[in-house]
Amino acid sequence: MGNVETREALVETLFHGTGTSYDEMVHFATWGRDRQWKKELLSMMEEPKRVLDLASGTGILALGMAELFDCHVTGVELREEYCAEARENAEARGIEDVRFFVSPAEHFTIDEQFDHITSCYIPKYIQHLDVLVGNMVKMLAPGGLMLLQDFAYPSKPMWQTLFDSHFERMRRKAREEAPGWLTMFEGLPEVIRTSTWKEDLAAAMERHGLVDIKTIDQSFGMSAIVSGRQPS
Ligand SMILES: C[S@@+](CC[C@H](N)C(=O)[O-])C[C@H]1O[C@@H](n2cnc3c(N)ncnc32)[C@H](O)[C@@H]1O
Repeated sequence: MGNVETREALVETLFHGTGTSYDEMVHFATWGRDRQWKKELLSMMEEPKRVLDLASGTGILALGMAELFDCHVTGVELREEYCAEARENAEARGIEDVRFFVSPAEHFTIDEQFDHITSCYIPKYIQHLDVLVGNMVKMLAPGGLMLLQDFAYPSKPMWQTLFDSHFERMRRKAREEAPGWLTMFEGLPEVIRTSTWKEDLAAAMERHGLVDIKTIDQSFGMSAIVSGRQPS
């Protein structure tokens, strides 16, 4: 499983104690673009009946899909703290056909098939995307779609400057107003800058037999969606 343990430690360090303020912070920390990035991902979906959502966090995407498509959603999340938030959010919104498992997505297995496998923000945290995709294709129904979105580091210097200065501002804000988020904003930019997840994920999808693989850049390359389809 390569360096999964190391990545888990990184995730624990970055996310520790952030669960209750995550939903507000993700909006703020993405220039308000998180909602738009998720909307674009939702627009690529095909009225699924059953969805597996990886790194489901507090359930923003998972619960959004359950409501929009009136479908079943299974969430898989590494951290109990976030899973507990997701379960509370589901209950508060009266959404019943969802369940959340605490597990590293790379190791999660269940003897069920899903029309779609989705995630916002998992790929950059996965040491071996090949392991993740190899595991997921077993649970992706024939003709089903896998769609993963995450931050990316833009290729154009102009947008790189904007990205760097935005995270510098986020660090300043965190120091003054939200110290619990400082570790995140100190660590996250480097994780994004050094990640090659878009290329690695597309290659892993191809190796595991997915077809119609697409990479869609969002917001000047500050985010992307990579998708692939299980042959029918
Ligand atoms: C930025 S949050 C995104 C949450 C949710 N997808 C959303 O869009 O609101 C990233 C989440 O990924 C989870 N995560 C990171 N690595 C993971 C792994 N290997 N397996 C499952 N979850 C993971 C973290 O615990 C964290 O909750």
